[in-house]
Amino acid sequence: MNAATGELYRQHVVPNYNRYPVCIVRGDGSRVWDDTGREYLDFFPGWGCAIVGHCPHRVVDAVRDQVGRLIHVPNSWHTEAQGLLAEALTTRTGWGAQAFFCNSGAEAIEGAIKMARLWGHSAGKFRVVSMLNSFHGRTLGALSATGQPKYHHGVEPLVPGFSYATFGDLEDAERLIGPETCAVLLEPIQGEGGINLPPPGYLQGLRELTRRKGCLLILDEVQSGMGRAGSWYAHQIWDVKPDIVTLAKALASGIPCGGLLATPEVAVALKPGTHASTYGGNPVSAVAALATIATIEQDNLIERSKVLEVKFRTRFEALAKRCPWIKEVRARGVMIGIQLSVDGAPVVKKCLDNGLLVNCTHQTVIRLLPAMNLTDAEFDAGCAILEDAIAGLAG
Ligand SMILES: Cc1ncc(COP(=O)(O)O)c(C=O)c1O
Repeated sequence: MNAATGELYRQHVVPNYNRYPVCIVRGDGSRVWDDTGREYLDFFPGWGCAIVGHCPHRVVDAVRDQVGRLIHVPNSWHTEAQGLLAEALTTRTGWGAQAFFCNSGAEAIEGAIKMARLWGHSAGKFRVVSMLNSFHGRTLGALSATGQPKYHHGVEPLVPGFSYATFGDLEDAERLIGPETCAVLLEPIQGEGGINLPPPGYLQGLRELTRRKGCLLILDEVQSGMGRAGSWYAHQIWDVKPDIVTLAKALASGIPCGGLLATPEVAVALKPGTHASTYGGNPVSAVAALATIATIEQDNLIERSKVLEVKFRTRFEALAKRCPWIKEVRARGVMIGIQLSVDGAPVVKKCLDNGLLVNCTHQTVIRLLPAMNLTDAEFDAGCAILEDAIAGLAG
């Protein structure tokens, strides 16, 4: 990396991230290049944002065209792009929803929590049950919903009203839901928590439980949405109809964009004056999101994500036979977790040295969120590097 860039960061950027000494300057599909001209394959493009790869041409064209005409329109006016995006996202749920737009995953969660509290206000309902090991973002409300004490440490007191159930344990959720509970909030597939799939019947059970107890079901699909899990929304895999769904990350291919989808009966709680976001549904992000959706559909990428799931699972389950330190391979579409019994950091480092970008979460899970249009040749080349890195661990 250019030493001057490193120095700029050292002097002028808040040191809240662990950054690799690599400066990325260009991307195309599942490849990026650094400032020395070195090429990398990317199995974690944009931390899940580049779901159709870096710089997808439809998104690039749509954004270029939009910024040349109009960059920002506040929400005191209408734009066709925001309306079309709301239609595109809500019709794909199949359960009739209305959309609210913001800029990030955490902001979508904040909106969902406020909507649920406003919905339950007259009945005295304000508590939220979320899950242990969850991840919902870093703003104070989203952090309070995140069931991981390590992220709470030092910024307490948290927002009151949150309690945490064990993911996958229906009885534990039932134990925590009381008359003041307005919502149960969870990721249908835990992402940062290690790509944890819900046990059979769990999401359906939560839907039945929340209905019976008179509270809402909020599904955080910031990571699992937009086709990544092999269905437009992961909740469709289990045929569950939530009250609110949150989206971000891949929504606009990396142009900042978040949103929530809610049933009209719940959406009505967000009356004028109760919530807002200056940039939310901005036309640049809206056309980027529409072009992302068009790319996924016109290139048949939801089908491709299912094919990739099988390819990744087969490849790393075969490796597990040689490497007993691979404990489990968990995959849904292009959400893949390789559970190790040892520290995964050396794997990330060795992959980087050999030209492949991957992630490790919770110390022992190699997490891959590849683009849905990863080619077979890129899959083979990247897997060879990753296999070599995992096989090289001491076990
Ligand atoms: C499921 C989930 N929800 C919320 C967030 C927060 O999103 P953001 O970083 O855009 O605020 C994340 C980020 O990783 C996430 O994975």
